Amino acid sequence: MPDWLKDAVFYEIYPQSFKDAGGDGIGDFEGIIQKLDYVRDLGCNAIWLNPCFDSPFKDAGYDVRDYKKAAPRYGTTEDLVRLFEEAHHRGIRVLLDLVPGHTSEEHPWFLESRKPESNPLSGRYIWTDFVFKWGGGLNFISGEAERDGGYVINFFKCQPALNYGFLHPSESWHQRIDSPDALSTREAVKDIMRFWLSRGCDGFRVDMADSLVKFDDENKSGTCAVWRDILGEIGKEYPEAAFAAEWCSPWQALSCGFHMDFYLDHLGNGYNTLLRDYKSGEDHSYFKKDAGGDILRFLRDYLPRYNDTREEGYISLISCNHDTQRPSFNLGKRELEIFYAFLFTMPGVPFLYYGDEIGMRYIEGLPTKEGGYYRTGTRTPMQWTKGKNMGFSEAEEKDLYLPVDPAPDAPDLESQMEDPSSLYHRVRDLIRLRHKYPELGSDAAFGVLFAEEKKNPFVYRRGSMIIALNPSGQEAFAPVPASGRRKVYEIGQGRADDQGILLGPQSCLILK
Ligand code: GLC
Repeated sequence: MPDWLKDAVFYEIYPQSFKDAGGDGIGDFEGIIQKLDYVRDLGCNAIWLNPCFDSPFKDAGYDVRDYKKAAPRYGTTEDLVRLFEEAHHRGIRVLLDLVPGHTSEEHPWFLESRKPESNPLSGRYIWTDFVFKWGGGLNFISGEAERDGGYVINFFKCQPALNYGFLHPSESWHQRIDSPDALSTREAVKDIMRFWLSRGCDGFRVDMADSLVKFDDENKSGTCAVWRDILGEIGKEYPEAAFAAEWCSPWQALSCGFHMDFYLDHLGNGYNTLLRDYKSGEDHSYFKKDAGGDILRFLRDYLPRYNDTREEGYISLISCNHDTQRPSFNLGKRELEIFYAFLFTMPGVPFLYYGDEIGMRYIEGLPTKEGGYYRTGTRTPMQWTKGKNMGFSEAEEKDLYLPVDPAPDAPDLESQMEDPSSLYHRVRDLIRLRHKYPELGSDAAFGVLFAEEKKNPFVYRRGSMIIALNPSGQEAFAPVPASGRRKVYEIGQGRADDQGILLGPQSCLILK
Protein backbone atom coordinates (compact mmCIF):
# COMPACT_ATOMS: atom_id res chain seq x y z
CA MET A 1 0.00 0.00 0.00
CA PRO A 2 1.62 3.30 -1.03
CA ASP A 3 1.92 5.45 2.07
CA TRP A 4 0.99 8.64 0.24
CA LEU A 5 -2.61 7.49 -0.11
CA LYS A 6 -3.14 8.15 3.61
CA ASP A 7 -3.29 11.86 2.93
CA ALA A 8 -4.34 11.84 -0.72
CA VAL A 9 -7.15 14.02 -2.03
CA PHE A 10 -7.76 13.49 -5.73
CA TYR A 11 -8.91 15.91 -8.40
CA GLU A 12 -10.40 14.31 -11.51
CA ILE A 13 -9.59 16.14 -14.73
CA TYR A 14 -11.47 15.54 -17.95
CA PRO A 15 -8.72 16.78 -20.28
CA GLN A 16 -11.04 17.89 -23.06
CA SER A 17 -12.66 20.48 -20.83
CA PHE A 18 -10.18 21.72 -18.27
CA LYS A 19 -8.04 24.39 -19.91
CA ASP A 20 -7.25 25.06 -23.54
CA ALA A 21 -3.81 26.67 -23.77
CA GLY A 22 -3.46 26.08 -27.53
CA GLY A 23 -6.57 28.06 -28.47
CA ASP A 24 -8.20 25.38 -30.65
CA GLY A 25 -11.24 24.98 -28.40
CA ILE A 26 -10.24 21.79 -26.66
CA GLY A 27 -8.32 21.35 -23.41
CA ASP A 28 -4.71 20.19 -23.51
CA PHE A 29 -1.71 19.12 -21.40
CA GLU A 30 -0.24 22.61 -21.45
CA GLY A 31 -3.50 23.95 -20.08
CA ILE A 32 -3.42 21.44 -17.25
CA ILE A 33 0.21 22.35 -16.51
CA GLN A 34 -0.79 26.02 -16.29
CA LYS A 35 -3.41 25.13 -13.72
CA LEU A 36 -1.35 22.84 -11.50
CA ASP A 37 -0.74 25.65 -9.02
CA TYR A 38 -4.48 26.03 -8.77
CA VAL A 39 -4.96 22.31 -8.07
CA ARG A 40 -2.24 22.43 -5.41
CA ASP A 41 -3.69 25.54 -3.76
CA LEU A 42 -7.09 23.91 -3.62
CA GLY A 43 -5.39 21.22 -1.54
CA CYS A 44 -5.55 18.35 -4.00
CA ASN A 45 -2.31 16.41 -4.05
CA ALA A 46 -3.25 13.88 -6.71
CA ILE A 47 -4.92 13.95 -10.12
CA TRP A 48 -6.85 11.33 -12.04
CA LEU A 49 -6.65 12.18 -15.71
CA ASN A 50 -9.34 10.64 -17.93
CA PRO A 51 -7.96 8.80 -20.99
CA CYS A 52 -5.61 11.00 -22.98
CA PHE A 53 -4.30 8.45 -25.48
CA ASP A 54 -4.57 8.28 -29.23
CA SER A 55 -8.18 7.44 -30.02
CA PRO A 56 -10.97 7.98 -32.55
CA PHE A 57 -12.93 9.36 -29.55
CA LYS A 58 -16.14 7.47 -30.08
CA ASP A 59 -16.30 7.06 -26.31
CA ALA A 60 -14.36 10.14 -25.21
CA GLY A 61 -11.05 8.26 -25.33
CA TYR A 62 -12.20 5.06 -23.62
CA ASP A 63 -11.70 3.60 -27.07
CA VAL A 64 -7.90 3.52 -27.20
CA ARG A 65 -6.12 3.20 -30.55
CA ASP A 66 -2.59 3.44 -29.18
CA TYR A 67 -1.96 3.01 -25.45
CA LYS A 68 1.57 4.33 -25.70
CA LYS A 69 0.89 7.55 -27.52
CA ALA A 70 -0.72 10.71 -26.19
CA ALA A 71 -3.70 11.96 -28.21
CA PRO A 72 -2.25 14.68 -30.45
CA ARG A 73 -5.12 17.02 -29.61
CA TYR A 74 -3.77 17.23 -26.04
CA GLY A 75 -0.08 17.38 -26.94
CA THR A 76 2.74 14.89 -27.35
CA THR A 77 3.81 12.00 -25.16
CA GLU A 78 6.74 14.23 -24.08
CA ASP A 79 4.25 16.92 -23.01
CA LEU A 80 2.46 14.36 -20.87
CA VAL A 81 5.77 13.35 -19.29
CA ARG A 82 6.42 17.04 -18.62
CA LEU A 83 3.00 17.22 -16.97
CA PHE A 84 4.09 14.42 -14.59
CA GLU A 85 7.28 16.31 -13.79
CA GLU A 86 5.55 19.64 -13.26
CA ALA A 87 2.98 17.95 -11.04
CA HIS A 88 5.70 16.25 -9.00
CA HIS A 89 7.46 19.60 -8.44
CA ARG A 90 4.27 20.72 -6.75
CA GLY A 91 3.81 17.56 -4.70
CA ILE A 92 1.01 16.28 -6.94
CA ARG A 93 0.80 12.67 -8.19
CA VAL A 94 -0.87 11.75 -11.45
CA LEU A 95 -2.92 8.64 -12.20
CA LEU A 96 -3.67 7.84 -15.81
CA ASP A 97 -6.80 6.01 -16.89
CA LEU A 98 -6.04 2.45 -17.93
CA VAL A 99 -8.62 0.79 -20.16
CA PRO A 100 -7.77 -2.92 -20.03
CA GLY A 101 -11.12 -4.46 -20.98
CA HIS A 102 -11.33 -3.28 -24.57
CA THR A 103 -9.63 -1.23 -27.24
CA SER A 104 -10.89 0.86 -30.10
CA GLU A 105 -11.95 -1.10 -33.18
CA GLU A 106 -9.16 0.91 -34.86
CA HIS A 107 -6.41 -0.44 -32.60
CA PRO A 108 -3.72 -2.20 -34.69
CA TRP A 109 -4.21 -5.33 -32.56
CA PHE A 110 -7.82 -5.48 -33.64
CA LEU A 111 -7.05 -4.73 -37.30
CA GLU A 112 -4.72 -7.73 -37.21
CA SER A 113 -7.07 -9.91 -35.19
CA ARG A 114 -9.97 -9.44 -37.58
CA LYS A 115 -8.00 -10.83 -40.54
CA PRO A 116 -9.19 -14.20 -41.85
CA GLU A 117 -5.65 -15.59 -41.85
CA SER A 118 -4.50 -16.93 -38.52
CA ASN A 119 -1.82 -14.69 -36.96
CA PRO A 120 -0.27 -14.03 -33.53
CA LEU A 121 -3.08 -11.58 -32.66
CA SER A 122 -6.00 -13.73 -33.81
CA GLY A 123 -6.71 -14.58 -30.18
CA ARG A 124 -6.16 -11.10 -28.66
CA TYR A 125 -9.95 -10.58 -28.81
CA ILE A 126 -12.87 -12.95 -28.28
CA TRP A 127 -14.07 -14.38 -31.57
CA THR A 128 -16.58 -17.12 -32.21
CA ASP A 129 -15.58 -19.73 -34.78
CA PHE A 130 -18.56 -19.19 -37.06
CA VAL A 131 -20.09 -15.85 -37.99
CA PHE A 132 -23.65 -17.00 -37.31
CA LYS A 133 -22.88 -18.03 -33.73
CA TRP A 134 -23.45 -15.92 -30.63
CA GLY A 135 -25.05 -16.11 -27.19
CA GLY A 136 -24.15 -16.79 -23.59
CA GLY A 137 -25.07 -13.36 -22.26
CA LEU A 138 -22.36 -11.58 -24.26
CA ASN A 139 -22.78 -8.86 -26.87
CA PHE A 140 -21.48 -9.75 -30.30
CA ILE A 141 -20.84 -7.96 -33.56
CA SER A 142 -21.01 -10.11 -36.65
CA GLY A 143 -20.67 -9.37 -40.34
CA GLU A 144 -18.10 -6.58 -40.01
CA ALA A 145 -14.91 -8.55 -40.60
CA GLU A 146 -13.73 -10.93 -43.26
CA ARG A 147 -12.91 -13.39 -40.52
CA ASP A 148 -15.56 -16.08 -40.14
CA GLY A 149 -16.66 -15.23 -36.63
CA GLY A 150 -18.37 -12.68 -34.47
CA TYR A 151 -16.49 -10.72 -31.81
CA VAL A 152 -17.52 -9.78 -28.33
CA ILE A 153 -17.81 -6.13 -27.38
CA ASN A 154 -17.31 -4.77 -23.86
CA PHE A 155 -19.28 -1.54 -24.04
CA PHE A 156 -20.14 0.35 -27.24
CA LYS A 157 -19.91 -1.21 -30.68
CA CYS A 158 -16.53 0.49 -31.21
CA GLN A 159 -14.99 -1.32 -28.19
CA PRO A 160 -14.13 -4.98 -28.88
CA ALA A 161 -13.39 -6.93 -25.71
CA LEU A 162 -9.83 -8.08 -25.11
CA ASN A 163 -9.42 -11.77 -24.47
CA TYR A 164 -8.57 -12.76 -20.90
CA GLY A 165 -10.28 -16.12 -21.32
CA PHE A 166 -13.33 -17.74 -19.76
CA LEU A 167 -13.44 -19.07 -16.22
CA HIS A 168 -15.39 -22.16 -17.30
CA PRO A 169 -14.95 -22.61 -21.03
CA SER A 170 -18.00 -24.35 -22.47
CA GLU A 171 -17.80 -23.62 -26.21
CA SER A 172 -15.12 -24.54 -28.69
CA TRP A 173 -14.17 -20.86 -29.12
CA HIS A 174 -13.91 -20.16 -25.37
CA GLN A 175 -10.31 -20.05 -24.22
CA ARG A 176 -9.13 -20.76 -20.70
CA ILE A 177 -7.77 -17.94 -18.55
CA ASP A 178 -4.34 -19.53 -18.70
CA SER A 179 -4.40 -20.11 -22.45
CA PRO A 180 -1.43 -18.61 -24.34
CA ASP A 181 -3.64 -15.94 -25.94
CA ALA A 182 -5.22 -14.88 -22.64
CA LEU A 183 -1.81 -14.80 -20.96
CA SER A 184 -0.39 -12.71 -23.75
CA THR A 185 -3.17 -10.11 -23.26
CA ARG A 186 -2.13 -9.84 -19.62
CA GLU A 187 1.48 -9.33 -20.62
CA ALA A 188 0.43 -6.62 -23.05
CA VAL A 189 -1.35 -4.78 -20.22
CA LYS A 190 1.69 -5.06 -17.96
CA ASP A 191 3.78 -3.67 -20.79
CA ILE A 192 1.51 -0.60 -21.10
CA MET A 193 1.61 -0.04 -17.36
CA ARG A 194 5.41 -0.22 -17.30
CA PHE A 195 5.59 2.15 -20.24
CA TRP A 196 3.83 4.94 -18.32
CA LEU A 197 5.10 4.16 -14.83
CA SER A 198 8.68 4.27 -16.09
CA ARG A 199 7.96 7.73 -17.51
CA GLY A 200 6.77 9.13 -14.21
CA CYS A 201 3.07 8.37 -13.92
CA ASP A 202 2.03 7.43 -10.38
CA GLY A 203 -0.51 4.73 -11.05
CA PHE A 204 -3.83 4.10 -12.72
CA ARG A 205 -7.53 4.44 -12.35
CA VAL A 206 -8.65 1.23 -14.01
CA ASP A 207 -11.68 1.37 -16.25
CA MET A 208 -14.30 -1.40 -15.90
CA ALA A 209 -11.76 -3.33 -13.86
CA ASP A 210 -14.26 -6.10 -13.15
CA SER A 211 -14.93 -6.83 -16.80
CA LEU A 212 -11.94 -8.91 -17.89
CA VAL A 213 -12.80 -12.61 -17.67
CA LYS A 214 -16.00 -13.51 -19.41
CA PHE A 215 -19.06 -15.35 -18.30
CA ASP A 216 -19.69 -17.15 -16.01
CA ASP A 217 -17.28 -15.22 -13.79
CA GLU A 218 -20.02 -14.23 -11.41
CA ASN A 219 -18.00 -14.16 -8.23
CA LYS A 220 -15.19 -12.59 -10.27
CA SER A 221 -12.65 -15.19 -9.21
CA GLY A 222 -11.29 -15.31 -12.78
CA THR A 223 -10.94 -11.55 -13.08
CA CYS A 224 -9.42 -11.43 -9.59
CA ALA A 225 -6.82 -14.01 -10.57
CA VAL A 226 -5.83 -11.90 -13.56
CA TRP A 227 -5.47 -8.77 -11.41
CA ARG A 228 -3.51 -10.58 -8.72
CA ASP A 229 -1.02 -11.51 -11.37
CA ILE A 230 -0.87 -8.08 -13.05
CA LEU A 231 -0.91 -5.91 -9.92
CA GLY A 232 1.28 -8.32 -7.96
CA GLU A 233 4.01 -8.06 -10.55
CA ILE A 234 3.70 -4.34 -11.33
CA GLY A 235 3.24 -3.47 -7.64
CA LYS A 236 6.57 -5.14 -6.83
CA GLU A 237 8.34 -3.19 -9.55
CA TYR A 238 6.64 0.11 -8.63
CA PRO A 239 5.73 -0.08 -4.94
CA GLU A 240 4.72 3.60 -4.84
CA ALA A 241 2.24 3.21 -7.70
CA ALA A 242 -1.44 3.42 -6.77
CA PHE A 243 -4.28 1.49 -8.40
CA ALA A 244 -7.93 2.56 -8.20
CA ALA A 245 -10.62 0.24 -9.51
CA GLU A 246 -13.85 1.10 -11.20
CA TRP A 247 -15.53 -1.93 -9.68
CA CYS A 248 -17.80 -0.89 -6.78
CA SER A 249 -17.22 -4.09 -4.87
CA PRO A 250 -14.36 -3.52 -2.43
CA TRP A 251 -14.46 -7.15 -1.24
CA GLN A 252 -13.33 -8.19 -4.69
CA ALA A 253 -11.30 -5.22 -5.90
CA LEU A 254 -9.20 -4.74 -2.77
CA SER A 255 -8.54 -8.44 -2.34
CA CYS A 256 -6.89 -8.65 -5.72
CA GLY A 257 -4.42 -5.85 -5.35
CA PHE A 258 -6.27 -2.59 -5.92
CA HIS A 259 -5.64 0.03 -3.27
CA MET A 260 -8.89 1.92 -3.82
CA ASP A 261 -12.31 1.03 -5.15
CA PHE A 262 -14.88 3.62 -6.14
CA TYR A 263 -18.25 3.73 -4.44
CA LEU A 264 -20.24 4.45 -7.58
CA ASP A 265 -23.71 5.72 -8.32
CA HIS A 266 -25.61 2.45 -8.65
CA LEU A 267 -29.35 2.60 -8.32
CA GLY A 268 -30.38 1.84 -4.75
CA ASN A 269 -26.91 1.48 -3.26
CA GLY A 270 -25.65 3.50 -0.30
CA TYR A 271 -23.86 6.15 -2.32
CA ASN A 272 -27.00 6.71 -4.35
CA THR A 273 -29.02 7.50 -1.22
CA LEU A 274 -26.77 10.45 -0.33
CA LEU A 275 -27.58 12.90 -3.09
CA ARG A 276 -29.00 11.09 -6.09
CA ASP A 277 -32.02 9.37 -4.70
CA TYR A 278 -34.43 11.20 -6.99
CA LYS A 279 -34.72 8.70 -9.78
CA SER A 280 -37.97 7.24 -8.50
CA GLY A 281 -39.65 10.62 -8.97
CA GLU A 282 -39.59 11.55 -5.30
CA ASP A 283 -36.40 12.80 -3.73
CA HIS A 284 -35.19 10.96 -0.64
CA SER A 285 -31.55 12.01 -0.78
CA TYR A 286 -29.95 12.38 2.64
CA PHE A 287 -28.19 15.65 1.82
CA LYS A 288 -31.30 17.26 0.32
CA LYS A 289 -32.64 19.70 2.89
CA ASP A 290 -36.32 18.84 2.82
CA ALA A 291 -36.20 15.24 1.72
CA GLY A 292 -36.37 13.94 5.28
CA GLY A 293 -34.00 11.05 4.65
CA ASP A 294 -31.87 9.46 7.33
CA ILE A 295 -28.33 8.18 6.99
CA LEU A 296 -29.20 4.57 7.80
CA ARG A 297 -29.85 3.60 4.21
CA PHE A 298 -26.31 4.70 3.42
CA LEU A 299 -24.80 3.00 6.44
CA ARG A 300 -26.53 -0.34 5.89
CA ASP A 301 -24.79 -0.59 2.55
CA TYR A 302 -21.54 1.20 3.39
CA LEU A 303 -20.65 -0.25 6.79
CA PRO A 304 -20.28 -3.89 5.71
CA ARG A 305 -18.15 -2.71 2.80
CA TYR A 306 -16.02 -0.59 5.11
CA ASN A 307 -15.76 -3.01 8.03
CA ASP A 308 -14.90 -6.00 5.87
CA THR A 309 -12.22 -4.27 3.83
CA ARG A 310 -10.66 -1.54 5.95
CA GLU A 311 -7.49 -3.54 6.52
CA GLU A 312 -7.09 -4.12 2.82
CA GLY A 313 -7.53 -0.72 1.22
CA TYR A 314 -9.79 2.24 0.67
CA ILE A 315 -13.29 2.92 -0.51
CA SER A 316 -13.25 6.08 -2.59
CA LEU A 317 -16.16 8.45 -2.24
CA ILE A 318 -16.62 10.87 -5.13
CA SER A 319 -18.28 14.26 -5.58
CA CYS A 320 -19.33 12.86 -8.95
CA ASN A 321 -17.43 11.74 -12.03
CA HIS A 322 -17.54 12.13 -15.81
CA ASP A 323 -20.32 9.51 -15.99
CA THR A 324 -22.78 10.98 -13.48
CA GLN A 325 -24.75 14.16 -13.09
CA ARG A 326 -22.93 16.78 -11.07
CA PRO A 327 -23.98 17.04 -7.40
CA SER A 328 -25.30 20.58 -7.99
CA PHE A 329 -27.95 18.99 -10.20
CA ASN A 330 -29.77 18.12 -7.02
CA LEU A 331 -28.17 20.13 -4.23
CA GLY A 332 -28.06 23.87 -3.54
CA LYS A 333 -25.07 25.68 -2.08
CA ARG A 334 -25.57 24.93 1.60
CA GLU A 335 -26.60 21.36 0.84
CA LEU A 336 -23.40 20.94 -1.13
CA GLU A 337 -21.34 22.37 1.72
CA ILE A 338 -22.65 19.77 4.14
CA PHE A 339 -22.17 17.00 1.58
CA TYR A 340 -18.57 18.12 1.03
CA ALA A 341 -17.98 18.24 4.81
CA PHE A 342 -18.97 14.57 4.77
CA LEU A 343 -16.93 13.73 1.65
CA PHE A 344 -13.73 15.20 3.09
CA THR A 345 -14.05 13.77 6.60
CA MET A 346 -15.00 10.18 5.79
CA PRO A 347 -12.45 7.36 5.62
CA GLY A 348 -10.99 6.27 2.29
CA VAL A 349 -9.49 8.39 -0.45
CA PRO A 350 -11.86 11.15 -1.68
CA PHE A 351 -12.18 12.26 -5.32
CA LEU A 352 -13.37 15.70 -6.40
CA TYR A 353 -14.46 16.16 -10.02
CA TYR A 354 -13.20 19.38 -11.66
CA GLY A 355 -15.67 22.21 -11.27
CA ASP A 356 -17.60 20.65 -8.39
CA GLU A 357 -15.62 22.93 -6.08
CA ILE A 358 -17.48 25.90 -7.55
CA GLY A 359 -20.78 24.10 -8.00
CA MET A 360 -20.67 23.90 -11.79
CA ARG A 361 -24.02 22.89 -13.19
CA TYR A 362 -25.00 19.75 -15.03
CA ILE A 363 -26.15 21.15 -18.38
CA GLU A 364 -29.31 19.42 -19.50
CA GLY A 365 -30.29 18.82 -23.10
CA LEU A 366 -26.89 19.03 -24.79
CA PRO A 367 -26.51 16.97 -27.95
CA THR A 368 -24.30 13.98 -27.29
CA LYS A 369 -20.55 14.47 -27.75
CA GLU A 370 -18.07 11.63 -28.27
CA GLY A 371 -20.39 8.98 -26.88
CA GLY A 372 -21.36 11.05 -23.88
CA TYR A 373 -25.19 11.00 -24.23
CA TYR A 374 -26.65 12.04 -20.84
CA ARG A 375 -23.08 12.28 -19.52
CA THR A 376 -22.30 15.16 -21.86
CA GLY A 377 -23.87 17.68 -19.46
CA THR A 378 -21.22 16.86 -16.85
CA ARG A 379 -18.32 17.32 -19.25
CA THR A 380 -18.58 21.02 -20.16
CA PRO A 381 -15.59 23.40 -19.90
CA MET A 382 -14.25 24.53 -16.54
CA GLN A 383 -15.49 27.99 -15.64
CA TRP A 384 -12.40 29.94 -14.66
CA THR A 385 -13.57 33.56 -15.10
CA LYS A 386 -16.51 35.61 -16.33
CA GLY A 387 -14.48 36.50 -19.45
CA LYS A 388 -14.46 35.02 -22.93
CA ASN A 389 -15.58 31.38 -22.88
CA MET A 390 -15.40 31.67 -19.11
CA GLY A 391 -11.63 31.65 -19.30
CA PHE A 392 -11.50 28.14 -20.76
CA SER A 393 -10.27 28.98 -24.26
CA GLU A 394 -9.44 31.81 -26.63
CA ALA A 395 -11.11 29.93 -29.50
CA GLU A 396 -14.28 31.12 -31.14
CA GLU A 397 -17.36 29.95 -29.32
CA LYS A 398 -18.43 27.69 -32.19
CA ASP A 399 -15.14 25.80 -31.97
CA LEU A 400 -15.38 24.86 -28.31
CA TYR A 401 -15.35 21.15 -27.46
CA LEU A 402 -18.63 21.73 -25.64
CA PRO A 403 -20.41 25.00 -24.92
CA VAL A 404 -19.74 26.70 -21.62
CA ASP A 405 -22.65 27.02 -19.20
CA PRO A 406 -24.89 29.69 -20.81
CA ALA A 407 -26.62 30.73 -17.57
CA PRO A 408 -26.07 34.41 -16.70
CA ASP A 409 -25.29 33.39 -13.12
CA ALA A 410 -23.04 30.47 -14.06
CA PRO A 411 -20.48 30.08 -11.27
CA ASP A 412 -16.88 30.99 -12.01
CA LEU A 413 -13.72 30.46 -10.04
CA GLU A 414 -12.39 34.01 -10.17
CA SER A 415 -15.48 35.49 -8.53
CA GLN A 416 -15.59 32.72 -5.95
CA MET A 417 -11.96 33.25 -5.04
CA GLU A 418 -12.80 36.86 -4.22
CA ASP A 419 -15.76 35.89 -2.06
CA PRO A 420 -14.79 34.31 1.28
CA SER A 421 -18.29 32.87 1.67
CA SER A 422 -18.15 30.99 -1.64
CA LEU A 423 -18.36 27.25 -2.17
CA TYR A 424 -14.77 27.32 -3.44
CA HIS A 425 -13.53 28.62 -0.09
CA ARG A 426 -15.60 26.05 1.76
CA VAL A 427 -14.10 23.20 -0.25
CA ARG A 428 -10.59 24.56 0.17
CA ASP A 429 -11.06 24.91 3.94
CA LEU A 430 -12.38 21.39 4.26
CA ILE A 431 -9.52 19.90 2.27
CA ARG A 432 -7.03 21.88 4.37
CA LEU A 433 -8.65 20.57 7.50
CA ARG A 434 -8.30 17.03 6.25
CA HIS A 435 -4.59 17.54 5.64
CA LYS A 436 -4.10 19.27 8.97
CA TYR A 437 -5.57 16.46 11.08
CA PRO A 438 -4.26 12.99 10.25
CA GLU A 439 -7.33 11.69 12.09
CA LEU A 440 -9.41 12.87 9.15
CA GLY A 441 -7.17 11.02 6.70
CA SER A 442 -7.85 7.89 4.68
CA ASP A 443 -7.07 5.22 7.25
CA ALA A 444 -7.83 6.73 10.69
CA ALA A 445 -10.49 4.91 12.72
CA PHE A 446 -14.13 5.55 11.91
CA GLY A 447 -17.15 4.81 14.08
CA VAL A 448 -20.81 5.78 14.04
CA LEU A 449 -21.90 7.72 17.14
CA PHE A 450 -25.45 8.67 16.17
CA ALA A 451 -27.61 7.49 13.29
CA GLU A 452 -31.30 6.78 13.79
CA GLU A 453 -34.24 6.04 11.62
CA LYS A 454 -36.22 9.11 10.49
CA LYS A 455 -33.79 11.37 12.35
CA ASN A 456 -31.57 13.66 10.46
CA PRO A 457 -28.32 14.15 12.36
CA PHE A 458 -25.39 11.92 11.59
CA VAL A 459 -22.56 11.94 14.09
CA TYR A 460 -19.37 9.95 13.65
CA ARG A 461 -15.90 9.65 15.00
CA ARG A 462 -12.58 9.78 13.19
CA GLY A 463 -9.88 8.85 15.69
CA SER A 464 -10.62 11.17 18.60
CA MET A 465 -12.42 13.74 16.46
CA ILE A 466 -16.19 14.06 16.18
CA ILE A 467 -18.05 15.15 13.07
CA ALA A 468 -21.72 16.08 13.41
CA LEU A 469 -23.90 16.79 10.38
CA ASN A 470 -27.41 18.11 10.14
CA PRO A 471 -28.54 18.56 6.53
CA SER A 472 -32.16 19.28 7.52
CA GLY A 473 -33.78 22.71 7.74
CA GLN A 474 -34.63 22.19 11.43
CA GLU A 475 -32.54 22.32 14.55
CA ALA A 476 -31.60 18.82 15.67
CA PHE A 477 -30.13 17.20 18.74
CA ALA A 478 -27.87 14.16 18.94
CA PRO A 479 -27.31 12.69 22.43
CA VAL A 480 -23.58 12.29 21.98
CA PRO A 481 -21.84 13.79 25.05
CA ALA A 482 -19.06 16.04 23.86
CA SER A 483 -18.08 18.39 26.64
CA GLY A 484 -14.52 19.63 26.83
CA ARG A 485 -14.04 19.46 23.12
CA ARG A 486 -12.81 22.21 20.93
CA LYS A 487 -14.64 23.29 17.77
CA VAL A 488 -12.20 23.05 14.91
CA TYR A 489 -14.71 23.81 12.17
CA GLU A 490 -18.29 24.83 11.80
CA ILE A 491 -20.86 25.35 9.07
CA GLY A 492 -23.97 27.12 10.32
CA GLN A 493 -24.21 26.85 14.08
CA GLY A 494 -23.83 24.12 16.62
CA ARG A 495 -23.11 23.61 20.29
CA ALA A 496 -21.75 20.65 22.22
CA ASP A 497 -21.86 19.88 25.93
CA ASP A 498 -22.05 16.89 28.27
CA GLN A 499 -25.65 16.21 27.21
CA GLY A 500 -25.01 16.09 23.52
CA ILE A 501 -24.65 18.06 20.32
CA LEU A 502 -27.20 20.65 19.27
CA LEU A 503 -27.06 21.38 15.58
CA GLY A 504 -28.68 24.38 13.95
CA PRO A 505 -30.49 24.03 10.61
CA GLN A 506 -28.16 22.82 7.83
CA SER A 507 -25.07 22.72 9.94
CA CYS A 508 -21.89 20.79 10.56
CA LEU A 509 -19.66 20.77 13.59
CA ILE A 510 -16.19 19.28 13.75
CA LEU A 511 -14.81 18.78 17.25
CA LYS A 512 -11.43 17.76 18.58
C1 GLC B 1 -16.28 3.39 -17.71
C2 GLC B 1 -16.00 4.86 -17.98
C3 GLC B 1 -16.97 5.34 -19.01
C4 GLC B 1 -16.74 4.56 -20.28
C5 GLC B 1 -16.88 3.05 -20.04
C6 GLC B 1 -16.33 2.24 -21.18
O1 GLC B 1 -17.51 3.21 -17.11
O2 GLC B 1 -16.04 5.59 -16.79
O3 GLC B 1 -16.83 6.72 -19.25
O4 GLC B 1 -17.69 4.95 -21.26
O5 GLC B 1 -16.18 2.65 -18.90
O6 GLC B 1 -14.94 2.29 -21.23
